Amino acid sequence: MKRIAIVGGGGHGKVCASIAEQLGYEIYFFDDHYPSIKTCGKWHVIGNTESLQRSLNDFDSAFVAIGNNVVRLAIQLKLELAKLPIANLISPSSSVHETVKLGSGILVVGNACINIDSVISDGCIVNTNSSIDHDCKLDRFCHISPGVSLAGEVTVGELTWVGIGSSVIQQTSIGSEVMVGAGSVVIDNIPNGLTVVGCPAKVIKYK
Ligand SMILES: CC(C)(COP(=O)(O)OP(=O)(O)OC[C@H]1O[C@@H](n2cnc3c(N)ncnc32)[C@H](O)[C@@H]1OP(=O)(O)O)[C@@H](O)C(=O)NCCC(=O)NCCS
Repeated sequence: MKRIAIVGGGGHGKVCASIAEQLGYEIYFFDDHYPSIKTCGKWHVIGNTESLQRSLNDFDSAFVAIGNNVVRLAIQLKLELAKLPIANLISPSSSVHETVKLGSGILVVGNACINIDSVISDGCIVNTNSSIDHDCKLDRFCHISPGVSLAGEVTVGELTWVGIGSSVIQQTSIGSEVMVGAGSVVIDNIPNGLTVVGCPAKVIKYK
């Protein structure tokens, strides 16, 4: 059985582990709150990121199960430098077209659909029941929350978080480090670093 080290023993970690289990991995959790946190769902947390660095050879691959985009990026970069292969966790109940280009450290949760000729870069989360239509491009470490719909040819910049239940119309470009509030409807391009909410989505914060 392949052994995977999952970093991040919170609720998101449980989701990642449940998919890793479906993919046939033996799961070992690491979390910097260890030993205060000793379990994650039914799994044991066996150390922190420092102890993982000391036991890299015990694992076939690793996965960073942290929802915060910036923290996920920082930890994945450290593991990549340590030469531990970073897995993709793609739920068997999701649908990813064979032409989709995938980086590493990607999570695709159940019932998500990624359509033809899309590109999903390193560290992206495509969460439960979300729909990424044809020719979309997700840049590194962005998070597409549950129930989001991206129409065709949408681009999403690095470290951007699209909130739960949002919709984005076709050929829209969302910049990097953008926050799209829950339930928003994006109909215009969004420059970098903004928080937008509502229908149609309007700016409420500048970085
Ligand atoms: C957009 C968001 C990040 C803003 O959070 P915040 O910076 O703490 O902002 P506030 O809660 O102070 O809200 C600021 C204003 O925007 C409004 N607002 C916030 N989120 C909104 C949303 N999603 N839709 C419409 N209006 C929203 C608030 O009502 C408030 O309006 P007011 O100034 O008239 O009172 C947050 O509300 C949100 O939507 N997060 C997404 C959560 C999510 O998708 N989780 C999925 C986990 S997988």
